[in-house]
Amino acid sequence: MKINTGVLLAGGTGSRLAPSTNIVNKHFLNIFDKPMIYYSLSILLLLKIRNIKIIVDSDSKDILEELLGTGDEFGISVDYIIQDKPLGLPHAINNIFVKDSKLENFAVVLGDNFLHGREFFNNFYDLIDLEKSNIFFQKVNNPEDFGVLHLDEEQNLIDIVEKPKDFISDLAVTGIYTFDDKFFQYFKSIDLSDRNEFEIADILKLYMKDKSLNHIYLGRGMTWMDMGSNESLLNCSNFVRTIQERQNILVNSPHEVAFRNGWITEEQIEKLYLDNNQSTYFQTLYKNIQSIY
Ligand code: TTP
Repeated sequence: MKINTGVLLAGGTGSRLAPSTNIVNKHFLNIFDKPMIYYSLSILLLLKIRNIKIIVDSDSKDILEELLGTGDEFGISVDYIIQDKPLGLPHAINNIFVKDSKLENFAVVLGDNFLHGREFFNNFYDLIDLEKSNIFFQKVNNPEDFGVLHLDEEQNLIDIVEKPKDFISDLAVTGIYTFDDKFFQYFKSIDLSDRNEFEIADILKLYMKDKSLNHIYLGRGMTWMDMGSNESLLNCSNFVRTIQERQNILVNSPHEVAFRNGWITEEQIEKLYLDNNQSTYFQTLYKNIQSIY
């Protein structure tokens, strides 16, 4: 079974990138040659998810809609849903709840997360357990900045600790999740944390208590970054530039993924290229779809 619905979180305050983010939503900022949100959107497209709900703050909705439109440009369908206040990830996700209608499993990606590599995308549907919620973890150098997994010797999950001050492990929870409709029940039972946000770790702990949380290692071959700090934004731009220039490919272009998925045509891409012929992104895109590699 595949997942049909993807939720992309593009609200928040972006306080780490101020002052730019005092006037513009961070997901519009370029990571090398394309807007940040193209990268997280590509994750959902690579998972073959075509029904996408984007959660966004009210100030940014119109401009985001101008950028991504109805989704036709990518052969997908996009709904825009406003999060009235940046009260945390579960609060953002809860906006997709529709009373009296049962939602199937859905995937969630954070709008500032970058993921590159084949392994995850090729094996995703074999790795996940749709009877449970699924989270993905990666080894990092700065676990104190993330939600961290506490595992026992058999690699069973004992706890998830948000931004631990004392070392627990270097295994960070990444910004890609799948949930079922138990999510909305759990959301009703959690409270705001000390930093005045609903915490995703609190939802994950409830899944854990119910023995329905599956933790999956992303693996060494996968590159995962969070693009939300000044350093990581530049590091990620440099990473993308290096790979693109070395291999003559595009990294995480939602247009290219849509084309390779058979959702949009070469003619559609040619038109985008002709309309934006000074853009190195569209130039590379147009050139790249001529290659089968
Ligand atoms: P964060 O990076 O945790 O928060 P932020 O984007 O507000 O940035 P900062 O820490 O610099 O203030 O958010 C992770 C992702 O989730 C990001 O893509 C924005 C999104 N998000 C929402 O959509 N709604 C929210 O309420 C929050 C907090 C984040």
